[in-house]
Amino acid sequence: MLHRSLLPLGLIALLGLAPACQRAAAPATTAVPTASPLPAATVPVTARQAMVVSAHPEATRIGLEVLRRGGNAYDATVAVQFALAVCLPAAGNIGGGGFVVYRGADGAVGALDFRETAPAKASRDMYLDKQGNVIPDLSTRGHLAAGVPGTVAGMWELHQKLGKLPWRELVQPAVELATQGVRLTEKEAAGLNANRQVFFTTNELPAGFPVVGVFAAQAEGAAPYVRYTEGGHLLDVDWHAGDTLRQPQLAATLTRIRDAGRSGFYAGPTANLIIQEMLLGNGLITQADLDQYQPRWRTPLRGRYRQYEVISMPPPSSGGVALLQLLQMLEPFDLRRLGWHSAEAVHLITEAERRVYADRATYLGDPDFGRVPVAQLLAPDYLKQRMAGVTPGSGATPSAQVAAGAGLPGYESDQTTHYSIVDATGNAVSCTTTLNGAYGSKVVVAGAGFLLNNEMDDFSVKPGVPNSYGVTGGAANAIGPGKRMLSSMTPSIITEKGKLRLVVGTPGGSTIITSVLQATLNVLDYGLDPQQAVAAPRLHHQWLPDHIDVEAGALTPAAEAELQRRGYKLNPRGAWGRIDAIERQPDGTLRGGADPRGDDTAAGY
Ligand code: GLY
Repeated sequence: MLHRSLLPLGLIALLGLAPACQRAAAPATTAVPTASPLPAATVPVTARQAMVVSAHPEATRIGLEVLRRGGNAYDATVAVQFALAVCLPAAGNIGGGGFVVYRGADGAVGALDFRETAPAKASRDMYLDKQGNVIPDLSTRGHLAAGVPGTVAGMWELHQKLGKLPWRELVQPAVELATQGVRLTEKEAAGLNANRQVFFTTNELPAGFPVVGVFAAQAEGAAPYVRYTEGGHLLDVDWHAGDTLRQPQLAATLTRIRDAGRSGFYAGPTANLIIQEMLLGNGLITQADLDQYQPRWRTPLRGRYRQYEVISMPPPSSGGVALLQLLQMLEPFDLRRLGWHSAEAVHLITEAERRVYADRATYLGDPDFGRVPVAQLLAPDYLKQRMAGVTPGSGATPSAQVAAGAGLPGYESDQTTHYSIVDATGNAVSCTTTLNGAYGSKVVVAGAGFLLNNEMDDFSVKPGVPNSYGVTGGAANAIGPGKRMLSSMTPSIITEKGKLRLVVGTPGGSTIITSVLQATLNVLDYGLDPQQAVAAPRLHHQWLPDHIDVEAGALTPAAEAELQRRGYKLNPRGAWGRIDAIERQPDGTLRGGADPRGDDTAAGY
């Protein structure tokens, strides 16, 4: 166990454990950290009654207005979801899917699964050539990559069961946003610019297409999300922060959803446009797929960590199982005492992650299509046995020695989005929603103005072999008609003594689970405020590849040296994840954590 003086200095001060001069007392065996990797303490947004934290200021504003008007957290969820479909085209969506975990003010909990499904015509080997090799890009780009969207059915279902305000009032703000236009942030402009060519190639423009409108995202016949002049000429120039993105076709689609609810998407003109788009690009989704799509209410997973209860998403997400496994495996260790991102704490967390991700690749898939051994994976004896031999002071266990299914998982795409909402009565919603890759399949439904997901790539496209994102899995996550692809999304809610404590989640593909874990530990074990907890640099290990991903500044040089001495390979990597969290303090005050890696915004009243 490390001496407490090895704690990063900022954290020592923050935790009130010792004066900063404590660094002078470090033992000679390990160098003293010269600086804390923690970002400076911040002043989080606080509110007395209600709060929304989402990936975009417009979506947060719209959600908060709903709450101010007397809507509940479920109403705000609907409004935020549709707003994100307009202002965050990379990930916000009506053409994708997601999960809601909620906890009512009365303590009742629930989980809604509106994950996409494989179309009825999908088959296990649909992305393989005659030799059985994976055909590059087929599961990630274009019409075949799209699963049957679940978002609109999910929002409708949530509202039918728990909503309070009229549906149309919740969709209308998104209609207005799409009609009037949204001012692009620098990050969104950069995302659109980076994808300009692929929008052209994926959406197959006829030569000499007619175009109208200034900056019209989906003018008739035009490539989506590309700039045009007043005269309709393509401007092969970049978008900039502050430019207005108008989406008239999306506005029309949202109007149909506003007026007809679920049927505004799965039937009538929108459905016809989806089917036409499928015919254009040899996609598989049919009207029967749209008719048959059903969101599912699931029983949320509930587990304990120290004095807290953790409520999270069950399969077809791997997130809840993995988070609860990790927390149980780490509970025997006094992480706070070991120090934030100390070599010892990182060692223990990494060893737990290695084992959990090995389980994930082997056992998890759609519970409606096969048995997922959730109870066994969460059994205390099993988890104790998994961590046998992992002690403070021990070295890295090579992943090759950690038994699991075949294959080499890599990274899932991280273009997903999460929002957290608490209303004035205490209802809490944790929602993570996704198109999978940035802008999903890149296919915009012509005439309907929204992007289709490329969630089919979250299946194991060839069991045992990494797909083009490097993700693998066994038969449990093989493609099957009507089946839901495995997810890592981990929308979670944590309570303490029966009271709400934390609402948390993030995008980030396979890093979602470890990001949610770190934010949770940052708040519960290390006592960071939620803003600091989500901003703090992160680490990630997922069994294979056998290295620790390291965000800039996540480790002190001393911790790096010690981890390398113990056999860990460190892999510096760009920032990942956009954690959005709300913490409720014992006096009822809400504090927000909006990830500074994105345009995420917390607001409350
Ligand atoms: N597409 C990301 C996930 O579901 O985990």
